[in-house]
Amino acid sequence: MTELSRRALISGICGIAALSMVPISAEASTLVKKLPKGRLSFKVSDAAKIVDVGNSVAIGQVKGQPVGIFRSGPSAFSAFSLACPHQGVTVERNDAGWFCSAHESKFAINGALEFGPATTGLRRVPVKVSRGVVTLG
Ligand code: FES
Repeated sequence: MTELSRRALISGICGIAALSMVPISAEASTLVKKLPKGRLSFKVSDAAKIVDVGNSVAIGQVKGQPVGIFRSGPSAFSAFSLACPHQGVTVERNDAGWFCSAHESKFAINGALEFGPATTGLRRVPVKVSRGVVTLG
């Protein structure tokens, strides 16, 4: 195998491994409650088991739509739809943020637009933090 083809193979394997929804772990998913009207909630005290500060993960479905949550501080969160604002394809998490494989739009780890054809960031989903509980939707 030549050096070039070996490099291409390794690069391809790493690229495939890096792309995923990055859903929360099975253990973390038990910490997220499903509420009436398609909302989700979890305790701020459990947040470190769900998502690290400065990171985002796919947390589940809010009102039937896949949603990601970004943790900007110990008890500061924002959430966004994982439906690409261009044509609705579900975006996937990679090392840099969120990526749409349909037409290659890129979004920052917090859902902000980095590269089109999408013209906006990922659509915000309401988040409320009250009395130690985070509620999405
Ligand atoms: S549907 Fe995501 S870039 Fe087109």
